[in-house]
Amino acid sequence: MFQLTRSVTWQALKGLQEKTAADRIRDYFTADPERFDKMSLRVGGLFLDYSKQPVSDEVLAKLIELANHSALVQRRAQMFSGDIINVTENRPVLHTALRNLGEGPLMVDGQDVMPEIQRTREQIRSFSEAVRSGEWKGHSGSRITDVVNIGIGGSDLGPNMACRALLKHRHSGLNFHFVSNVDGAHIQKVLSRLDPATTLFIVSTKTFSTQETLLNAHTARRWFLEQAGPDADVGAHFIAASTNRQAAMAFGIREENVFEFWAWVGGRYSMWSSIGLPIALSIGFDGFMELLEGAYEMDQHFLSAPFAENMPVLMALIGIWHINFQGAETQAIVPYDQALHQLPAFLQQLDMESNGKSVDIFGNPVDYKTGPIVWGQTGSNGQHAFFQLLHQGTRYVPIDFIASLKPEPGVEDHHFALLTNMMAQANAFMEGSQTGSRLDPYSCPGNRPSSVLLLDELTPKNLGALIALYEHKVFVQGVIWNINSFDQWGVQLGKRIAGEISERIDAQSQDFDASTQGLLALVREHFTSDGDPSGDAAPEDGKANEGKMEERRKDKGKAGKRDGKG
Ligand code: F6P
Repeated sequence: MFQLTRSVTWQALKGLQEKTAADRIRDYFTADPERFDKMSLRVGGLFLDYSKQPVSDEVLAKLIELANHSALVQRRAQMFSGDIINVTENRPVLHTALRNLGEGPLMVDGQDVMPEIQRTREQIRSFSEAVRSGEWKGHSGSRITDVVNIGIGGSDLGPNMACRALLKHRHSGLNFHFVSNVDGAHIQKVLSRLDPATTLFIVSTKTFSTQETLLNAHTARRWFLEQAGPDADVGAHFIAASTNRQAAMAFGIREENVFEFWAWVGGRYSMWSSIGLPIALSIGFDGFMELLEGAYEMDQHFLSAPFAENMPVLMALIGIWHINFQGAETQAIVPYDQALHQLPAFLQQLDMESNGKSVDIFGNPVDYKTGPIVWGQTGSNGQHAFFQLLHQGTRYVPIDFIASLKPEPGVEDHHFALLTNMMAQANAFMEGSQTGSRLDPYSCPGNRPSSVLLLDELTPKNLGALIALYEHKVFVQGVIWNINSFDQWGVQLGKRIAGEISERIDAQSQDFDASTQGLLALVREHFTSDGDPSGDAAPEDGKANEGKMEERRKDKGKAGKRDGKG
């Protein structure tokens, strides 16, 4: 059986790690004046400079050999053509079909999926136009002013990140709110600022069975009926993006307002589907299509460019060099762009839920490190928080700097300062400063790795390309590590046990470990089986509270039973 770590290329890379351990990145520049030109590339509106990475020409060539010897060509073709590559959930992985702008069919299970994708796109177009134009009316005849997306994980992070990133393209008459946390403080805070007559709720959940989302959706519906009156039309204010049409309709959503998507769209890859509806509402359908276009162009690049000039492949290989040969545990994402402040959180889920795996696709434990811990925040804020450790600490942390070149009118001086700070940091990480002896507390060792990704401008199209770039980077790493990047059984385990614990709130259950039982006893003192603080469940308005408790019971039942596939 093939063992990655025993392969000739892997062993050669280990040898190169030892050989280059004492190299200084800056010496590579001295030795090769062409290095920047050689180790940078442009795809559409994106420019990647990876010349400040600790890779010699020889290392890069070996990394490309690693990709050549992997199943990448075959698995990439399988993904794009709808083969079952998510083997543990027995389904294809087709987020690329959602942004496919090419002609021709895409057959899955003998059926062309493109017509239904087109139909849903058309549904998104007509609905978003109706809301944006004011043609869509709430129950009292008012136009919508506020859109609340209720969802979590992939049903929150993608549209949330994109709406914030593209805020300057937002419809001026619409405000957007994202509620994800099951902590009631989150939804209460959002609802406290809203008028039910002018609010539209999107219940975004692939499965329509995620506890957090269902609790928040039921709280929102209860609030709506309390405020607008018990007979107010829920259907005029609640719509859903879900694969579970029946459950959405049972919630009170009109059939025509369930925006469909499909089991072959993974939660963290779903912003291109109906889950992206808030994006279309915010920036308009044409803007949403530009986002898809950018992703589609990156898909075409990923499919056709030779590995040595393939942006996602190169980023993946450099990541593998860091993780498997240089001992990096984490990957920092630092956007020098306030509009991209949600990007690190989005990429964290994308990467960590996909490649946080320790068995290969055959179920064998792997003997190498897989996905890194992804973290970060915007610069220049990060400079005044965690950069100190990156400059002088004991850890080796590769950084992706991300920025857009075009300044905002009126604040050009800010943008110039932003970009010069980013360039200064990338330079300082590489050069360091040797002010005296090596023990001098003022000296920074340097030789710390970073890449710089520049967007010509933060447009929907370039954002689409940027996200597709990272999706493919994660995919390539998963293929080389021979893991399934598309399941998330660890998350499902947590979901299942949360359901079981909530069902045991009354019982003196021996089913859990002593610590969980002890904690449960403490929690039990404050809650009844309805999840209400004890004593407070006494109905002031008997009917309303009965309904409320019944809804919660139903939610808990569903939470316990769900299969929870994301
Ligand atoms: O976090 C795990 C996960 O399964 C994600 O993949 C998914 O995006 C999220 O839960 C929410 O699931 P759903 O969209 O079904 O509510």
